[in-house]
Amino acid sequence: MNTFDENDQHNHPRPEETDFSRMVNVLLSRRQLLGTVGAGVGLFLGGQGVAQAANTGAQVGPRMSFKPIAANSLDTMTVPAGYQWRVLASWGDAILPGGTGFDPVTRGTAISQSLSIGDNNDGMSFFGFSADHGVIAVNNEYANYEYLFANGRCSSIEDTRKAQAAHGVSVFEVRRIGGVWKLQPQARLNRRITANTEMRLSGPASGSALLKTQADPTGTLALGTFNNCANGRTPWGTYLTCEENFNGYFGTADSLPDNAAFKRYGISAKGAGHNWFPFDGRFDLAKNPNEPNRFGWVVEIDPMDPTSTPIKRTALGRFKHENAEVVVNADGHVVVYMGDDEKGEHIYKFVSAKKFDAKNLKANRDLLDVGTLYVARFNTVDGKAQGEGEWLELTHGKNGLTAEAGFKDQAEILVHTRLAATVVGATTMDRPEWVAVHPTQAQVYVTLTNNSDRGAKPNQAVNGPNPRSKNVYGQIVRWIPQGNDHTSNQFTWDIFALAGNPMLHKDAYAGSSNITPDNMFNSPDGLAFDRDGRLWIQTDGDYSNAKEFAGMGNNQMLCANPVTGEIKRFLVGPVACEITGVAFTPDQKTMFVGIQHPGEKLVPSHFPQGGDAVPRSSIIAISRRDGGVVGA
Ligand code: FEO
Ligand code: CA
Ligand code: CA
Repeated sequence: MNTFDENDQHNHPRPEETDFSRMVNVLLSRRQLLGTVGAGVGLFLGGQGVAQAANTGAQVGPRMSFKPIAANSLDTMTVPAGYQWRVLASWGDAILPGGTGFDPVTRGTAISQSLSIGDNNDGMSFFGFSADHGVIAVNNEYANYEYLFANGRCSSIEDTRKAQAAHGVSVFEVRRIGGVWKLQPQARLNRRITANTEMRLSGPASGSALLKTQADPTGTLALGTFNNCANGRTPWGTYLTCEENFNGYFGTADSLPDNAAFKRYGISAKGAGHNWFPFDGRFDLAKNPNEPNRFGWVVEIDPMDPTSTPIKRTALGRFKHENAEVVVNADGHVVVYMGDDEKGEHIYKFVSAKKFDAKNLKANRDLLDVGTLYVARFNTVDGKAQGEGEWLELTHGKNGLTAEAGFKDQAEILVHTRLAATVVGATTMDRPEWVAVHPTQAQVYVTLTNNSDRGAKPNQAVNGPNPRSKNVYGQIVRWIPQGNDHTSNQFTWDIFALAGNPMLHKDAYAGSSNITPDNMFNSPDGLAFDRDGRLWIQTDGDYSNAKEFAGMGNNQMLCANPVTGEIKRFLVGPVACEITGVAFTPDQKTMFVGIQHPGEKLVPSHFPQGGDAVPRSSIIAISRRDGGVVGA
């Protein structure tokens, strides 16, 4: 039987591997060119975005007047001069009646955890009611067992329930009192959604045989969500939470039959060490082989109604979802851009069949159930770091997606989206993380975090948007849809930033010309625009500050000007953390930033309390001492 790689090669023979030295030369000449004319200008082949900016007098891009900070390896937050930070909320803070404060000795029970903020806060959105009152929905991606459990292991059903309660989503109200944003314990909208919360499966795959289990013979009701990485926010006021590495929660003591879909999605008898399956039969693959099909979706949550049932939107496809960036196209169709974060996976786009109704927000509630899913192909000419691309439709009966190819109907395409993407010839990418759309222009940016398999695996030859083999640093690629129309099947792309280390390298691993010894970073991950068009970049990279990463320090957050290409370091996080999740208050005077897993793997950190405290993932509120707009 063919492996997916062989199948990929067979159906879509790829061009011969790009001559890497030629690629490096192109990037080097680009470095020199950009060094003289200013990074970013003229990088777009289509030129429309730049032309638009010029017409509106915005050719210099958004203001970023803060003084950039140096890299460091301190166990604290560092922000620019004139800025301040405070902890808004941390893992274990009680938000529901009956909840107790964080207990540093026991680190809580299954019950206390279900009444408190979960672990490993990740993507988040802020929904404002008034200038000083709003609600935050935040993902709790996974749990650090080294801190969650006294013995560091999940070894009973009680432990499993506690770990499951540490996952999911936390929703809580916040108020600005005396200029300080504060968590409101026990407020009306506060809610915990965990790995056991009842959810509905909707859209074309709902009710499919692939989604049916013994506990749910209808294939329409799932329990819970977990490994919720990044997020999205719809213009009708709902929160999208994205299920990423769901595969590792399943396993079995029995042997598994050969299964191409399990293989492609990384589902194995062994699991990834979360260890739920020995205690909770729902996660035992021998008992419930379809249960993993009910995860890997984008889930829509109404943060304004704590009794609402979260809905898994199957029309958006099943893969290791990073975020879901929603944009209303000029003609009213809603477009959702999504990355699938694994080495050699793909970038997707969903286009709604119906149009957004701005006058009746409730009318949009099922907009994400009907539409067309596409996957991206980046065409490369002569190893250039820019080019054209196209969106390939993932619809049954088109592009070879037939019963003979293994897809009985649209439901099978959606449950096995990765397999369908390979059949149609999608480009394998360097781990697509967040996608961000510019607030006023039709420009889309994506972080490609790193890829040790690039240039090493047969389906991952070096290609245009993924130009370096053994890519340890990552890059940010951007595209403009043809005619500024997000529903167009054509786009032009280029590379906004190749991360690298110009202190160590002179070739493409030095990075693009807008990477300097003063702003260098690795593994861009979180990515979001603010309303003024500043591009915020968060990293989840190697924080050793040694070898390839010397001079980069702890994980960090940077601010970029998409017009000039300038990148400035804005924040450095504490020891062994990842920076992930960003949200702004409507006045943009407070920015909420996620500090995930400080002190992971027992690397010594005591953030945020200091002393000898247990390190806790936290959400930080950052503001300017003069009350101005953050970043401006
Ligand atoms: Fe949860 Fe791809 O980061
Ligand atoms: Ca991420
Ligand atoms: Ca990541």
